Amino acid sequence: MNILLIGSGGREHALAWKLRQSPECTKLYVAPGNAGTATIAENVPLPGSHDDEAAFHRIAGFVKEKDIHLLIVGPEAPLVAGIRDYFEQQADLSHVALVGPGRVGALLEGSKDFAKAFMLRHGIPAAQSRTFTQAQVHEGLTYLATAPLPIVLKADGLAAGKGVIICDTLQQAQKTLKEMLLQEKFGEASRKVVIEEFLEGIELSVFVLTDGKHYHLLPEAKDYKRIGEQDTGPNTGGMGAISPVPFADEAFMQKVQEKIIRPTVAGLQEEGIPYRGFIFIGLMNVQGEPYVIEYNVRLGDPEAEAIIPRLQDDLVPLLMATANQSLDQMPVNISTDTAATVVMVAEGYPGPYEKGKKIEGLPQTGKALVFHAGTRAGSPTEGAPVLTDGGRVLAVTGLGKDMAEALQISYEQVHQIAWEGQYFRTDIGKDLQTWQPGGNL
Ligand code: AMP
Ligand code: GLY
Repeated sequence: MNILLIGSGGREHALAWKLRQSPECTKLYVAPGNAGTATIAENVPLPGSHDDEAAFHRIAGFVKEKDIHLLIVGPEAPLVAGIRDYFEQQADLSHVALVGPGRVGALLEGSKDFAKAFMLRHGIPAAQSRTFTQAQVHEGLTYLATAPLPIVLKADGLAAGKGVIICDTLQQAQKTLKEMLLQEKFGEASRKVVIEEFLEGIELSVFVLTDGKHYHLLPEAKDYKRIGEQDTGPNTGGMGAISPVPFADEAFMQKVQEKIIRPTVAGLQEEGIPYRGFIFIGLMNVQGEPYVIEYNVRLGDPEAEAIIPRLQDDLVPLLMATANQSLDQMPVNISTDTAATVVMVAEGYPGPYEKGKKIEGLPQTGKALVFHAGTRAGSPTEGAPVLTDGGRVLAVTGLGKDMAEALQISYEQVHQIAWEGQYFRTDIGKDLQTWQPGGNL
């Protein structure tokens, strides 16, 4: 069958790599893709954004023209904007198997206030919180004055991963709240702000594939969010990932399933919210108890680059079963290997950075999986086949029998790749390597 994958990051290269291995995949298109996806699929340069009605119209035209049967939406924005609803409303598109929730299901990521209220309704453990609108700014400021520090302020809507601010002082919190609500620091997304209790613990990314009735737990991963070694400096989209995660042992994952995943899937069903796609639950392990920090309606990046290589089954029938609500018929087998992903970024990221640097040392073959994130193919006059085209440029995954081997494979490859100003963290996985059962990180 012909498949279209929407997106352009490392997550999409990893998905494309996996889809390409399926005997059921005839032709794979990635829109818009990157220089990595171009080597295994056909990139489709659908112009403009991918998250409005005009974009859906262009995508629909392509789907009809190329007889696409499976449409996978990598990033959240088209889902939050209602790409599924658009497809379901057109009679000549409703046969397309689409992976990703509709507009209402996507609110789990698209509105933090919606997600908090959902969790409250279904008894799902999460940080205590209150939501304030523009009109309630004074109540919000008063609330902050009595709240314990640090305190977490979250823009309600999508803010490209920048909408969460952890404030250590009351002064900073009040200033930030005013900026978010009154000056719309994150545009429309911060017209409502969720003020939330700070949770102290270890973070974990948990992934679920659901057809709305049944679900499968996918491998979990730990993401390294800060730019600097030992988790210092500003937050990024993710500097590395490890899967599996030693502290996510059977007892803990049992709690995650009972207290979080089952009530989430059942809650969606009870509320009549159809959901066919991935749910990514960012959670905090607080002294052995899981609390949801956020829901996302897609796979994580760079987590996808670590978890997809551990999936032993053909992804195409699995995604078809997701769209056709027959996931209970499909087993999911996960490799016991460890995956370690190291992200190589541009100098200056997550602040301003330059693009168009020539990447050298990209392997043709090798032990590591080199997933492209922000890259583009160079033209003959540019002097290199692949150029940097984003902040996060490459995600290099090693798979090994244990974390040490996985890291060795990944870093060996990373050290062979170079461009002007490249940067990566050298301590991915280090904290987990020394972790002992019952220990803290
Ligand atoms: P997000 O942009 O939603 O991924 O959040 C960014 C980061 O903020 C998360 O990965 C956590 O490290 C942190 N965070 C969010 N909510 C909380 C919370 N309630 N307590 C502590 N840290 C949090
Ligand atoms: N790695 C975190 C995310 O994809 O949101």
